[in-house]
Amino acid sequence: MAARGLGLLTSLPLRARRSQVQRPLCRLLSCPGTVAAALGREEQSSGSAETGSEDRTPKKRFSEVQKERREQAQRTVLIHCPNKISEKKFLKYLSQHGSINNHFFYESFGLYAVVEFSQKESVASLQNVTRTPSLGTEAAIPFRSRYFNLKLKTPLNQTSEQPSVQCRTQSSPSSKKLFELLCCAESVDDQLNTLLREFQLTEENTKLRYLTCSLIEDVAAAYFPDCTVRPFGSSVNSFGKLGCDLDMFLDLDEIEKFSTHKASGNFLMEFQVKNVPSERIATQKILSVVGECLDHFGPGCVGVQKILNARCPLVRFSHQASGFQCDLTTNNRIALKSSELLYMYGALDSRVRALVFSIRCWARAHSLTSSIPGAWITNFSLTVMVIFFLQRRSPPILPTLDYLKTLADAEDKCIIEGHNCTFVRDFNRIKPSGNAETLELLLKEFFEYFGNFAFNKNSINIRQGREQNKPESSPLHIQNPFETSLNISKNVSQSQLQKFVDLARESAWILHQEDKDRLSPSNHQPWGLAALLLPSVANNMSLAKKKKKPASERIKNLLESIKSSSTENSTATNG
Ligand code: GTP
Ligand code: MG
Repeated sequence: MAARGLGLLTSLPLRARRSQVQRPLCRLLSCPGTVAAALGREEQSSGSAETGSEDRTPKKRFSEVQKERREQAQRTVLIHCPNKISEKKFLKYLSQHGSINNHFFYESFGLYAVVEFSQKESVASLQNVTRTPSLGTEAAIPFRSRYFNLKLKTPLNQTSEQPSVQCRTQSSPSSKKLFELLCCAESVDDQLNTLLREFQLTEENTKLRYLTCSLIEDVAAAYFPDCTVRPFGSSVNSFGKLGCDLDMFLDLDEIEKFSTHKASGNFLMEFQVKNVPSERIATQKILSVVGECLDHFGPGCVGVQKILNARCPLVRFSHQASGFQCDLTTNNRIALKSSELLYMYGALDSRVRALVFSIRCWARAHSLTSSIPGAWITNFSLTVMVIFFLQRRSPPILPTLDYLKTLADAEDKCIIEGHNCTFVRDFNRIKPSGNAETLELLLKEFFEYFGNFAFNKNSINIRQGREQNKPESSPLHIQNPFETSLNISKNVSQSQLQKFVDLARESAWILHQEDKDRLSPSNHQPWGLAALLLPSVANNMSLAKKKKKPASERIKNLLESIKSSSTENSTATNG
């Protein structure tokens, strides 16, 4: 995953051409270097372009990406290093165990190195020369993992050696830096692409995510040899922001695939197993022991919480070395399939990811989403809403899930727990959209569309790409794409939905106002996307709300008047 810069860089001029409005050049010159520096950074790490629709790089299937990354992670080690280290000597030392494909350093309460060997055997060779530490008063639990601690026998002489390792950042830019970048952008389209570029997972961060899953798999394998720990959710669906959690699931189905199930004559062998009353209890028991294992023996796993009574039981913990907040579940193949579907949608058109990132950031800036579970809308729901909106454009930017199902062949067939999760996985069989709308227009129309959506009676359904009558009374109904009787936003309260609607209307209004004022833009005011992300926007609005009639009503009237005047204008022009 990690749709990287190559696609974006090649698509930028096109995007800019499409954009109706170019911002004055002075905006670009007012902070020289920042945009260029950001682009330069992008160029450095644009080695793998897995998504992005306007580049000509063949797009890899989700399963191929997963397989490659997993295999890469198994050849990789994580090393906690002394702060002063000579990169050259470090690499020379490790090369004794085999050639190194790739490495990078990062900081997270200390200096860490991620080193990818060319061969898996090199990892075993390194483990063979590694000792378990003797800790004086405390005792160490011996565990031969791929997470090491490097010590220097004699500290480097700081004067004679100037060790400098370049660290790759694992965090998104500060709000100040982001506003600078956004205000220096050329157009609203450029702003959306800048936000995507700055917030998307980097190549290194993606590697670290797969490596973390692989390290957890080593621990879980103590109980379940041959198990697989797979990442899912925003770490792999191409919509992950730097700093997002790491969702992973323990896949025990793979173990079955190793058996050949040979029935010879009248005999059939089965394992003796313990039976429990339900699948849920089996899940709870498995997660309970893996949770214990992580807590007691998992190097770097801290704050382990077993949340086994949740609808979807999980073990939550922090992986200290990578800094990831991890959620481990089991039996979650449908969620993995949802991740694959979102990955496909994200790769079909380069506007999808830019729009989703902006909407996610906008929602976060106005506290519509939260990292704490509650009545808020989730990033997953927001992504599905953007997909639905893009299916509703004319011509559509994204195909419906039912259409993707009609393109599927026998290999794509997928039934999970009785749910038909089939859709085409070969990008070449999907025709690109003929829709050339700008991101600026789409952003504005997204807010207008959902600012006026009949949430009280309609449900959002990406399978059919059209509104449907709500089957139940939850304020917000978004059909689960695969478990179609479920609502993915059942938790959202009426007041949270109202807050979303109000903010959507207000944001549409701000963008429309900007359209009017664009002949006399001020260089000192945040504009476009930057204006929408400012908390003061919401504050100003709530102040206005108190003074006048409800903002929703006010903005709705305004929007209607804008709409009717634009219809009048276009009729007049046509006439
Ligand atoms: P972040 O907020 O960046 O973590 O986004 P995310 O997409 O990873 O969301 P989250 O961590 O909440 O959930 C991980 C994955 O679980 C999602 O991508 C979905 O595939 C799945 N998921 C989340 N919520 C639901 C839900 O309500 N129903 C179903 N069926 N799947 C869900
Ligand atoms: Mg997540």
